Amino acid sequence: MNENTNENKNIDPNENDQNKYETKRVTVSELQEGMIIARKIYTKMGILILDKGTVLSEATIQQLRRIQDLYFVQIMIPEGSDIKMNNQISFNRETSLSHKEEQKISNEKILTATAMVESSLFSDGVNDRILKEHISKVSDFISDEFKYQSSVLENVMVGANASEEIAKHSLNVAALANMIGKWLDFKSSRLNSLTKAALLHDIGKIKLKEKNPDIDEETLMKLHPHEGFKFVKSLNSEELNNELAQGILTHHEREDGSGYPMMVKSDKINQFGKVIAVADTFENLLSKKGICPFEALYSLQTDYFGKLDMNIVIIFIKKFSDFYVGSHVILSTGEEAKIVQFNKYDIKRPLVLTDDGFIDLYEDSSVHISQFLYS
Ligand SMILES: [Fe+2]
Ligand SMILES: [Fe+2]
Repeated sequence: MNENTNENKNIDPNENDQNKYETKRVTVSELQEGMIIARKIYTKMGILILDKGTVLSEATIQQLRRIQDLYFVQIMIPEGSDIKMNNQISFNRETSLSHKEEQKISNEKILTATAMVESSLFSDGVNDRILKEHISKVSDFISDEFKYQSSVLENVMVGANASEEIAKHSLNVAALANMIGKWLDFKSSRLNSLTKAALLHDIGKIKLKEKNPDIDEETLMKLHPHEGFKFVKSLNSEELNNELAQGILTHHEREDGSGYPMMVKSDKINQFGKVIAVADTFENLLSKKGICPFEALYSLQTDYFGKLDMNIVIIFIKKFSDFYVGSHVILSTGEEAKIVQFNKYDIKRPLVLTDDGFIDLYEDSSVHISQFLYS
């Protein structure tokens, strides 16, 4: 590009009073004529394309925008210039910071919903009408409040460190299942049914514990899908229909027949069961194992290959990795970095940006993400 930049003026910022410039890191889409390059720009191969002090012209900006893998540029804006910048680097995704605020669901609302799930699931002796009423209310809450995938993820994240409480787990799984159902273009009545199935997917555990408080964990795990199915069927409700009950029954079945209780294969697993299996596995990886979201997504792709419905897993990973672009992480070097782009071969090793430039973790195996920073 050097030969094409003759039209650019070049200044030496070191010779001028630094206070006359405001330095910022901006995305290439935010570049404007008159901005001054504050740090040399290199290609991925290490070739210098623009020197520090270059005053950007419109033509140069267009060329910079055509360079693959160039996302951010450190610039200086002369004091008193007309150039107006936002203070935040904005990403072209649904979770720019201001948007994110709007999507944040208040803790109070989450607590109310969790309490409602709890009172529905643990409604021993409480009549079935109240249970159905509560489940409907929570399902409506999820449809109204968890409109964006960022809302779902932020709240799954909230639950990630909190506890293993069944109510919170059920709420998280329901929100995730609702989101997957939308991606699969479920119609609203079926989406509603799926959400309720996810809310009730582990109710068999509670019913079994009510009958036998000393039941061991292994038996509980083995029997709860069928117990939940029987319970929902016993309610004889039009709302809690057969597809919903089958979803509860099959949520631990696996595509290769290695699941339980019936050990059926892919074609015999109800679609609700397949969706809940993905949502349930992801939620458990985050909350019980406490691993970072990229590890969890990677695990879905590798450890659960052939076990979970791969079409659902692929959509899940694609949508959720889009969401995580722009997230902050801590690297094994101790540096803070921002996710710029995911690598489709290994989601745990994305291209990241630190204060010192880009690091492609897929190519540089000496560095890895050691911590995900929840916002
Ligand atoms: Fe379960
Ligand atoms: Fe579960």
